[in-house]
Amino acid sequence: MKAALIRRFGGYEVFEYTDVPDPQPEPDHAIVKVLGCGINRYDLFLRMGGIKKETPLPHVMGADIAGEVVQIEGDAHGLTTGQRVIVAPGFPIDPAEWDFEPENLAESFTVTGTSLWGGYAQYVKVPTRFLLPDHTGLPPEQAASLPLVLVTAVHAVQTLGEIQTGQRVLVQAGASGSGSMCIQLAAHLGARVATTVGDDAKVDFARGCGAELVINHRKESFAERVRAWTGGVGVDVVIDNVGGGIFADNLTCLRRGGFFVNFGLVGGVKDTLNFAALIFNQHQIRGSMMGSLAELRRGLLLVEAGDLRPCLDRSFPLAEAAGAHAYIDSRQVQGKVVLLPWS
Ligand SMILES: NC(=O)c1ccc[n+]([C@@H]2O[C@H](COP(=O)([O-])OP(=O)(O)OC[C@H]3O[C@@H](n4cnc5c(N)ncnc54)[C@H](OP(=O)(O)O)[C@@H]3O)[C@@H](O)[C@H]2O)c1
Repeated sequence: MKAALIRRFGGYEVFEYTDVPDPQPEPDHAIVKVLGCGINRYDLFLRMGGIKKETPLPHVMGADIAGEVVQIEGDAHGLTTGQRVIVAPGFPIDPAEWDFEPENLAESFTVTGTSLWGGYAQYVKVPTRFLLPDHTGLPPEQAASLPLVLVTAVHAVQTLGEIQTGQRVLVQAGASGSGSMCIQLAAHLGARVATTVGDDAKVDFARGCGAELVINHRKESFAERVRAWTGGVGVDVVIDNVGGGIFADNLTCLRRGGFFVNFGLVGGVKDTLNFAALIFNQHQIRGSMMGSLAELRRGLLLVEAGDLRPCLDRSFPLAEAAGAHAYIDSRQVQGKVVLLPWS
């Protein structure tokens, strides 16, 4: 089969579009024909060698897989060959932990395509229990833009953010893959959403996702705008995928007793915390890592109901994985980018 393989960590040039052996059947696993594989910012970190979990080389990455079952060995978990499926974008890779719930708290929980080969290929092998039937009715390139950001949004916004109708929420990086889904979910839950973008060209996109207030962080202080928007009180919840560099400003946006939920670090992995401010403001700081299979199912039901939609910016043939990564690095993307292994 064809794959976009890496033999070493580094820049875009490490991708090699080449023939690799097909995955071989294994008990309680399915072989899935990859019809689309979404790219996440995580993949860029992985390509550069920035992910701490062990990634043996050569490697095929790719967490966001929409495909079709072509072969099943052992326990089928109700699946049949020919069925359209969505692969869980993360699961416990140690079979001894396959029953662990919630899956994202298992010791061996790993983003799909990190330790084991993922979806930058024409076929992938996955434990059948971590495949979900795809009832979205979406074309594969749209479905492949969903899983990782969907499960992340459900966990960060609903489970940890505990967002309620009428609350005000700040979602950082509103045109990012993850931010655009978090805005949609927060708005669906009845919250009023403020968000940030780094380019005026992204404003309409963020509004279309459901944001009421869109702030260009390159032109204005988002902290000042958000404080003013809430009459000086602050938002109930901040959903942050930027991390280092804006932590203090994020907390400035947050009301007393509010929740700060972080799941991303494009701005850096470190920042400083003022403990006095933390105590007096009684903020709750919550770290979020993807989510459980149940949360992914819940997210997919919302997609099926038309409450959430995929935000596909554009797709690339798998042979152009390097160009697709460069496009994401450009910060021009609005939503998601997907690789197509068969075009
Ligand atoms: N823990 C989890 O479960 C989880 C799940 C999903 C994503 N993540 C993390 O969340 C972050 C965003 O992921 P994503 O896939 O949504 O990213 P993405 O689609 O590539 O979008 C990232 C956006 O962040 C904004 N940004 C702000 N400061 C930046 C900086 N210093 N460098 C680069 N971009 C910056 C940029 O938008 P503007 O130019 O408009 O500001 C950029 O387009 C990543 O750290 C990713 O690893 C974590």
